[in-house]
Amino acid sequence: MAIIKACIFDLDGVIVDTAVYHYKAWKRLANELGFDITEEQNENLKGVSRMHSLDLILQWGGVTKTEADKEELATRKNTWYVEMINKMTPDEILPGAKEFLQACIDAGLKTALGSASKNSETILNKVGIAHFFNAIIDGNKVSKPKPDPEVFLKGAEELGIPPEDCVVFEDAIAGVEAAHNGGMKAVGIGSPQVLTQADLVVSGLDKMTVEKLATL
Ligand code: BG6
Ligand code: MG
Repeated sequence: MAIIKACIFDLDGVIVDTAVYHYKAWKRLANELGFDITEEQNENLKGVSRMHSLDLILQWGGVTKTEADKEELATRKNTWYVEMINKMTPDEILPGAKEFLQACIDAGLKTALGSASKNSETILNKVGIAHFFNAIIDGNKVSKPKPDPEVFLKGAEELGIPPEDCVVFEDAIAGVEAAHNGGMKAVGIGSPQVLTQADLVVSGLDKMTVEKLATL
């Protein structure tokens, strides 16, 4: 059992439901290229960087593109995605997220954001929750995508807490793996059938309490 001193949160699918916007935008791109992507395939895109997601999608569609074409396709997807996130409001914070962040702060725990997204600043500002985090690490600060633990290790370092005293909250298979690769505990947000490697799975942060951290 670990004594948890810090909580590191993924953003998309944990704090806000932007996972659906990513899926919509990738699906639209795939459709324009003449194929489709399923929800099951989409599980493998969660937590994965923009360019790596594109590589996987092109592979699933059996399509080969030049690097220049790939840049253009990723930009096209991101433009649609940004159009959607620019319309976000504080109502789109997932149930229990703000309450659990506040409970962590009240319990004296440190909090960090650990997201692969390069759009995290826009999202945090739109929904108004940046002030809940002692450190913010996102896709602009890291070079190695999840399941590499870089994003979470940088978060722990910025908080000044050893990795073994940190717990990561993740909706992505790659994110749970990244937490474990960094020597951290992982609480899965979603389904236990999908997040089989997580130390604990809850359907959302509304089902999480500071007391449950002691069981990890
Ligand atoms: C992760 C999402 O948080 O960020 C992925 O789960 C996404 O789906 C990745 O591809 C990168 O996001 P962005 O906003 O930089 O394209
Ligand atoms: Mg996520």
